[in-house]
Amino acid sequence: MNIGAGLDTTFYRIDNGLIHWYDLDLPAVIELRKLLIPETDRTACIAKSFLDSSWYKDVKNFKDGIFMTAGGVFPLIQKAQVKQFFSMLADNLPNSEIVFDVQSTLDGHFDVWITQLLPDKQKTLRAAQTEALKSWWQKAPQNQKDALIATLKTHTTPHGTEWAHLKAW
Ligand SMILES: C[S@@+](CC[C@H](N)C(=O)[O-])C[C@H]1O[C@@H](n2cnc3c(N)ncnc32)[C@H](O)[C@@H]1O
Repeated sequence: MNIGAGLDTTFYRIDNGLIHWYDLDLPAVIELRKLLIPETDRTACIAKSFLDSSWYKDVKNFKDGIFMTAGGVFPLIQKAQVKQFFSMLADNLPNSEIVFDVQSTLDGHFDVWITQLLPDKQKTLRAAQTEALKSWWQKAPQNQKDALIATLKTHTTPHGTEWAHLKAW
């Protein structure tokens, strides 16, 4: 089970031919994921926030715990929400395991690592990110743009100035 899966392809790298895998992310992200990485007979998407305590009910074949990964997800949310999520796991998914990354308290910012690059590399990377987003934004259907804006407003804290350009684009 991949929490905050985005377009992550972990399943295809660890599949032993038997496992059942779930990719959970916010509805707008899952909509895009399904277009690019269709579900199969052993993979399914769950279009919910992991803070929505109903998602575990969508996991079929739950017997004695599940294995979860959460990569690059917890740095996006508040500490209290991470605690709420782990309480929910403890209450509803006993004997499960989760592998996740965390952000050092020394890092005040989600993309702090970019600032550790040399200035010209930072500039190049940020310009490439902005161009990629701009190119997607210009072609995306209005409902996907609306969904992205709604997601950004509700679930994450936008960082950097890229998001400020969305309306202008
Ligand atoms: C930095 S990306 C990491 C994606 C993927 N895990 C990877 O390693 O490539 C963070 C992901 O967490 C998702 N996310 C953020 N808040 C979420 C929430 N409340 N519920 C579910 N997914 C969330 C985002 O939509 C995004 O896809």
